[in-house]
Amino acid sequence: MNDLLSLKQAFLDDLSAVSDITDLQQLKAKYTGRKGLVTAQLKALSTVPPEERPLFGKAVNELKLFVDQTIDQKEESLKDIEKQKRLHAEKIDITLPGKPSHAGRFHPLNRVLQEIKDIFVSMGFGIEEGPEVELDYYNFEALNIPRHHPARDMQDTFYVSDDVVLRTHTSPVQVRVMEKKRPPLKIIAPGKVYRCDADISHTPMFHQVEGLMVDAGISFSDLKGVLELFIQSFFGKDTPVRFRPSYFPFTEPSAEVDIGCIFCTGKGCRVCKTTGWLEVMGCGMVNPKVFEMSGYSSDEYTGFAFGMGVERLTMLKYAIDDIRLFYENDLRFLRQF
Ligand code: PHE
Repeated sequence: MNDLLSLKQAFLDDLSAVSDITDLQQLKAKYTGRKGLVTAQLKALSTVPPEERPLFGKAVNELKLFVDQTIDQKEESLKDIEKQKRLHAEKIDITLPGKPSHAGRFHPLNRVLQEIKDIFVSMGFGIEEGPEVELDYYNFEALNIPRHHPARDMQDTFYVSDDVVLRTHTSPVQVRVMEKKRPPLKIIAPGKVYRCDADISHTPMFHQVEGLMVDAGISFSDLKGVLELFIQSFFGKDTPVRFRPSYFPFTEPSAEVDIGCIFCTGKGCRVCKTTGWLEVMGCGMVNPKVFEMSGYSSDEYTGFAFGMGVERLTMLKYAIDDIRLFYENDLRFLRQF
């Protein structure tokens, strides 16, 4: 029994010298390994006289349990210390300057398009689409522009074949919608259009938003109300608006919508060619001939239509002087939005 006591003391002395996992493994081997000191005492149990055996057996088992548990605890605490050391070594210096990450953003044209849609949707307009490769019939004929009519010169057209064109405007969507749906109609149709044209204010592909409202009793004052509200939402509450008589084969009467020049506030400058006004879209009352060709009765219904260029509106809103900037993908330009 005295051997056991001094064995325990020796173990505790050795333990206090253990400073890492390797030391601890050696300690473990020394006491509870196959040839360990405590293991030897357990084996010696059979040589103890039978009357001393229960007491000795109990003591030796308690010692074994104590050694095992102490080693386990020590192992835990050593692992913990090592983990703390590792965490400390891996500590991140949060005072270092960060690596900048560039978030993506919407292209200015998509931003403006979204804004235009939001304004019309808030007035109860739905959104429609039509094909960019379009039949001559929808792009021209059903809009009262017959084959050899001089009005075809208003739009330089890419012909795919005799009967197929790249649509030169979004107006064909008016006809496609009227063929499918009955009044009341209140829609806008955004999309790409194509014209054989290129300079600082024209690109062969650009975007338009068409609008169409049809019902019994729609008048020119409805057209004025909707477009004035749109322009004041888009360009600002105090933007002057005027309707100037014009001509489109598919509307009668027709008008261009002008806004007070935002560059010189109407005083006259280079951009507005000293007129004080900037043209922003075409519009008019739907020509009865268009209604008849689309299968609507022009006795029952009246309506208005308008068409605006998204590039032009964006250029005016952000004072951009060259349309080609939209398509060059120069990040110095795009990051400004
Ligand atoms: N489609 C015409 C254009 O592209 C614009 C327009 C649309 C005019 C609807 C009147 C009515 O120039």
